This record gives sequence, C-alpha cells and structure tokens, in this order.
Amino acid sequence: MSKPSLIEAFERAGQGHVFSFYNELAPDAQQTLLDEAAEIDLAEIDRLTRTLLAKDAAIGLDLNGLAPAPYELRPENGGDAKAWADAKVAGETALRAGRVAAFTVAGGQGTRLGYDGPKGTFPVTPIKQKSLFQVFAEKVRAAGTRYGKPIHWFIMTSNMNHAATESFFVENGYFGLAKEQVHFFRQGRMPAVTLEGKIMLETKGTIAMSPDGHGGSLRALDRSGALDLMEKEGIDILSYFQVDNPLVRGIDPAFIGWHILRGSEMSSKMVAKAYAGEKVGHFCTQNGQSIVIEYSDLPKSYQEEVDPATGALRYIAGSIAIHILDTKFIRRMARGDNSLAFHRADKKIPTVDASGNAVKPEKANGVKFEMFVFDALPFAKNPVIIETRREDDFSPVKNAEGLDSPKTCADDQLRQFTRWLKANGATVSADETNLPPFAIEVSPLFGYDEDSFADAWKKLPAKPAISVGLYLE
Ligand code: UTP
Repeated sequence: MSKPSLIEAFERAGQGHVFSFYNELAPDAQQTLLDEAAEIDLAEIDRLTRTLLAKDAAIGLDLNGLAPAPYELRPENGGDAKAWADAKVAGETALRAGRVAAFTVAGGQGTRLGYDGPKGTFPVTPIKQKSLFQVFAEKVRAAGTRYGKPIHWFIMTSNMNHAATESFFVENGYFGLAKEQVHFFRQGRMPAVTLEGKIMLETKGTIAMSPDGHGGSLRALDRSGALDLMEKEGIDILSYFQVDNPLVRGIDPAFIGWHILRGSEMSSKMVAKAYAGEKVGHFCTQNGQSIVIEYSDLPKSYQEEVDPATGALRYIAGSIAIHILDTKFIRRMARGDNSLAFHRADKKIPTVDASGNAVKPEKANGVKFEMFVFDALPFAKNPVIIETRREDDFSPVKNAEGLDSPKTCADDQLRQFTRWLKANGATVSADETNLPPFAIEVSPLFGYDEDSFADAWKKLPAKPAISVGLYLE
C-alpha cells in the first residue's frame, strides 16, 4: 500500500490519530511508523474492539456441560502399561525416521522475571550456569544422536528479542548444533488499544506493539515458511514447549507415540494439580471437545470440587504448556476459518498524550490482545492428554523470587539429578524431597532423561563419588 492510502485507511477506520505527529518526524522515522502501521489488520482491530471491548461484551464462561477431560494415567497410577510401552516404541520409530522437530516459543516479554535480555539467555543450571537455550540445545543434540537423526529445532522470537537471540546462538557456536538445524522466526505483533479501541502510540513515531501471544505461533509458523521447510524435511510432528522450563522433556518418545497411535492432531501433557487453586490451566471437555480453561476463568467452586468416590480433586488435570502438534493441523489453523480467539489483557501501557509528551500510567490505561496456543485444542481431531510426573517435565522460571523462580528451578534440577543417580544404584545424601545439600549437575549431553542417563551411567567404567561440584558430561 502506498503511503497516502495507508494513512487514509487508518483515517477511515477512525485510527487517523496514529499519524498525528507524522509531519514532525524525520523521513526514516516516518517510514518506521508506516512499516509498523502496515503490520496492523484494521478489520481485525475493529472486530476485537466491538467484541472484546464493548460495554456489553460477554464476560464469564459458559459452564454448561463442562466436565473434567479424560487423560491417560501413567502405568504406576493404574494406566495401561502395554499402551505406554507401545507408544514409546512408536515414538522412537518416528524419531529415527526424522519425523519430529522441537519447537520453543520464546517471544514473551518475561516481565515477571525482570531480566534484561531474551529469557532463553537466562542462566539456570546449578553449577555451570548454562542458559535455558543451552540446556534445550544440548537436549536436542543428545536426542538426535540417540536416535541417529539430527533433530531440527524451531525457535519463535518476537521483534524485541529476535536479533539478540540469534546473536546469542552465533556467539556460542549454536551450542554444538549445526546452524542449518536451528531456525528462528518472529511471531506477529498486535497494537495496544485504549479502552475505547483507539490504537495507542508508544512515542510520537512508534505504535505500542507487543507480541500476539504464544497462540500466535500457529500463524507465524505458516507465514515464516517454517511449515514449508518442515514439509521439505519430512517433518510432520512438532514438539512444543516454553522457553522458561528447563526440565521439559522436549523430545519424549512415549508422548510422541501416544500422539501418533491415537491419530491425534494435538496432544498435551497434564500433571495433577498440586493444590486446588494452583494457577494452571484446567483440561476440561465441553460439547464433546477438549478445552483448557485458565484458572482465572474457572470458578473457585469448580477448582475445589472433590470427587466423592475418590476424595480427589475433580478438575485435577493441570496444563503445563507442553504439546505436540501435527504440521497439517497447524497449517489448517493458520489458514482456515477456525483462527484462534484473542484474549484481552488490561495493562499499563507507556504512551504519549495529545501533545506528544510521554505518559507513564499508574493504572491500566489500555488493552493488549493475545492468542493462547491451547485454544487450538477444541479444533484438533482425536486430541490425547497424557499424564506426566511434574518432576520429570515442569519447573518453570517465571518470577525473580519465590514460586517458580531461579532458586526453585535449580533445586528441582538437583532433585532430578539425584533421582536419576539413585535409580541407578548411586548413593546420594539428600533430604526426603531428594534435594542434596550441595550442587551437582548432569549435562544433557550425558543424560537428558531417565533412559539416556541410565545408559550413560552404565557405560561409565568407574562410578564417581557423588559429592559437591560433581559434573557429569
Ligand atoms: P508467559 O505467559 O510466561 O509470558 O509465556 P512471558 O511474556 O514469558 O512472561 P511475563 O508474563 O511477561 O512475565 C509463556 C511462554 O510463552 C512464550 C514465552 O516466551 C514463554 O515461553 N510467549 C508468550 C511467546 O512466545 N509469545 C508471546 O507473545 C507470549
């Protein structure tokens, strides 16, 4: 679109104020503003304003016919051991055939952690202080070696952290992965709007744009050409995980196998909620579809409801943001009629006033729109949810301190290393939660899950004493 027609389109849509300071800007700053404006789908903003911001917008959730979603229990909890074993074999076969790629969503702003830099560059391991990206890179590399087929790794960034993320990999030699195996692409952005639906400026020459949520990954995978590349490489299964969770088994053969054997288009892992009000999404069913309901949307009475027969929480299945997606399903979601819904989040958005002076709001002054990847679940054929143990898959770094912080995550890594060592006959002095009183570390290149660790441990000619500073690589 040429310059005047883009500005005209904004004026027609009642968004002409975006160009209020246009004439004051230097030519390159004018171009920057035009480029940002061109990213915006005005019809989409209009629709969202009418649906999500309208005074009479439906709030609250329709709870009609809601029930807990069924899931596959682990064998030790009564699940079908044969089915789990079959799944593992099917997953291993797919990995050997090169059908699986890893996918990390790393486009978030990480505001709660308050760390200056892409979250993936944050150091997390107890001794070597490896970054989140290094941990995943080594897991991907080790799994590729194990299955005799290098695994492609797709990383979604956002405008804010794309260049810094790429440089981090270049500076670190891609952590031993081949450059051709690691693929970065940016997610889309959405403008923030005022409570009246007016697109907000961040400065006189820039729009208040932010990433469009992890659900934006579906269309970004399509738009960026990542799906085409997968097709060319014979990849049809994408293993999705978040950048903040170093414990995740990003390449889990049993999970992949459940997905394949069930003919599922989107599969998910659940953990039993630690307590009724745990802040996780809840796996539910409604009208024959699987859905995830955020803790903030599910009434407390549901969160706390107990099954009289078992005494356990009824809505016990918590989502830990680990999924497997079929590439054809992603394409359908990205291009078809069933695009993901946007959610509204009211935020404090730095902006400018009518004279162009900077405004730092004290309370929410605008709305951001985000898509959530789990909203794809109801559109998937044969979705399957499997149980996992929290200690095998989930310990995210969300906050600087307290719950889900670098400290809790490092402790959970220590517990995991201790469990693996003990399971293989080593003596480790640790408390009843398996936390040793000193730091040890296992490189993913030595062992990245129970099986790979056990194999590597068996091969060690002399078993080391488990004491302070032990590093297995
Ligand atoms: P979070 O919901 O924890 O958000 O993202 P965040 O932006 O990282 O952190 P806060 O809320 O500002 O503290 C969960 C996962 O989804 C990714 C994040 O990078 C993280 O891996 N994500 C989130 C995206 O890739 N894009 C987004 O737009 C939002």
